[in-house]
Amino acid sequence: VRRITIIGRRALASPDFLLQDLAGTSGRLDVLARCLRAALLLSHGLRRDTTVYLVLLGGPQAPRTVRVEGARSRFLRPEERAMATLLKKVLAAAGDEPGFVEVKPGIAVANAGLDAVIGDCAGSPLYVALEGAEDVRDLDVAPDDGAFFFGDHLGLEDDAIATLKQAGARAIGLGPVSVHAEDAIAILANELDRRGARAP
Ligand SMILES: C[S@@+](CC[C@H](N)C(=O)[O-])C[C@H]1O[C@@H](n2cnc3c(N)ncnc32)[C@H](O)[C@@H]1O
Repeated sequence: VRRITIIGRRALASPDFLLQDLAGTSGRLDVLARCLRAALLLSHGLRRDTTVYLVLLGGPQAPRTVRVEGARSRFLRPEERAMATLLKKVLAAAGDEPGFVEVKPGIAVANAGLDAVIGDCAGSPLYVALEGAEDVRDLDVAPDDGAFFFGDHLGLEDDAIATLKQAGARAIGLGPVSVHAEDAIAILANELDRRGARAP
């Protein structure tokens, strides 16, 4: 399974945002909704081989992490508003139990942040997308079982980078310019798709 994590530094971990003003009321959950689409949705269908983690660090309910498994999810639609509606429902249904708890088929919520994701990725090689790091094209990165971590519009905090590196994550660069997180995810997916396609 390919795993893609986006850390939303201010993204609300509760459903208390307005769908009609998502960017202005949710700590930029719109960025994470677009990342979810870029990581999981194909032109026609879902990437069944991909699991996405949205780490939500904003508001009093934080930290929380929403996990979406492509293998088991249904009814995911590409529109940003549909993604946001889904996240609102998922966050409203989340309880206080420890660990990832499924609230819809293939969609689970944990009342925890980066540590819970790293725990869930045990056994996978970890990579953190950082501007200026060694180019992914020069690295031997497995297309199918890596766990990749991205920042949101604010980038990754030093603490998060340190935690990931301590867990063994390798830094990867995705080209010479800093692009939006959703675009960085699309670039990575394309690189990995090409490698997968080349594999015998
Ligand atoms: C909009 S960028 C973050 C910009 C933020 N102002 C900063 O300086 O970190 C969002 C995320 O996409 C990823 N990213 C964007 N461009 C990249 C690149 N050229 N190489 C590797 N990762 C990149 C990184 O994970 C980054 O945290």
